[in-house]
Amino acid sequence: MDWAIETFNLTKIYLSLFRRRRLVAVDALNLKVPVGCVFGFLGPNGAGKTTTIMMLLGCVYPTSGDFRIFGRSIRDMGVRRRIGFLPEKFQFHDLLTAEELLWFHGRLTGMDRHTLARRVPEVLEQVGLSARARSRVREFSKGMQQRLGIAQAILHDPDLIILDEPTSALDPLGRRDVRDLILHLKSRGKTVFLNSHLLSEVEMVCDEVAILRGGRVQRQGGLDVLLQVHPVVDVELVERSEGVMQAVRAMATVISEDGTRFTAEVGSEEDIPALARCIVQAGGDLIRFAPRRESLEDLFVRVVEEHE
Ligand SMILES: Nc1ncnc2c1ncn2[C@@H]1O[C@H](COP(=O)(O)OP(=O)(O)OP(=O)(O)O)[C@@H](O)[C@H]1O
Ligand SMILES: [Mg+2]
Repeated sequence: MDWAIETFNLTKIYLSLFRRRRLVAVDALNLKVPVGCVFGFLGPNGAGKTTTIMMLLGCVYPTSGDFRIFGRSIRDMGVRRRIGFLPEKFQFHDLLTAEELLWFHGRLTGMDRHTLARRVPEVLEQVGLSARARSRVREFSKGMQQRLGIAQAILHDPDLIILDEPTSALDPLGRRDVRDLILHLKSRGKTVFLNSHLLSEVEMVCDEVAILRGGRVQRQGGLDVLLQVHPVVDVELVERSEGVMQAVRAMATVISEDGTRFTAEVGSEEDIPALARCIVQAGGDLIRFAPRRESLEDLFVRVVEEHE
């Protein structure tokens, strides 16, 4: 397997002034992000996501541990050129126009004029800013600035795109555009490492996620696998019956109950037909029986709360 990112016990400890207090921001992190994967790096506020990203970019020096990007050290300039980055708190030169800003960033990465003349209008189009190419950045709304930040991150056609909260300021249409853009990048074999609190979005685009808490990874893996663990079924009956509820409780965990409706969690996919049979045999008349997988939000809340 080729890895875009691999970390080995990567650790960052911040020491306060005069070293009186230690803060373990990232604690022995072991991540493996395959090439071509859309990877969601999740966790509550202060979990250590941005600190990890800053280490991966070579902007924050690890206290201990190590990491590789495409099998190389971040000191390797060749590898740096293959990374595109949207910072969490970006601050652009706001007297420049969108077009000028992209030219400036492009020149900094070493792109030539010929490539930039083609590429700048292309990325502005991709993030929906073509009509504002000649407007100054200071006139842009927050969402427009975020779009420009994404354009800047993909301008030099990098192989690894790191996005620290790419959609926090975007309207629903903008979020959909970014989702499509990420899927387009993936279809071209790019690796996207993104950090977001918008879990329904993450669920739509990511292949794999890691859930971080207190600097440690609590869960990591493919979304299919992580969310397949506890299937849940939404049930509605014609009439509420204690007999049915008792029979259900004997084989499943009832997560919520509301009149004639309830939601039950079963151990595995195979238990779903058995649950339906059990309800009918106990005399329940079904109106609705809708199995679904656990949502990423359900999983996130469960993981974060179980470690509190
Ligand atoms: N430069 C710094 N000096 C001291 N402590 C820091 C520094 N940067 C981050 N921290 C601390 O490290 C911890 C992790 O912060 P980080 O910004 O990585 O979290 P995050 O997961 O990105 O959170 P959010 O979701 O809020 O963006 C926090 O407790 C934070 O206070
Ligand atoms: Mg952050």
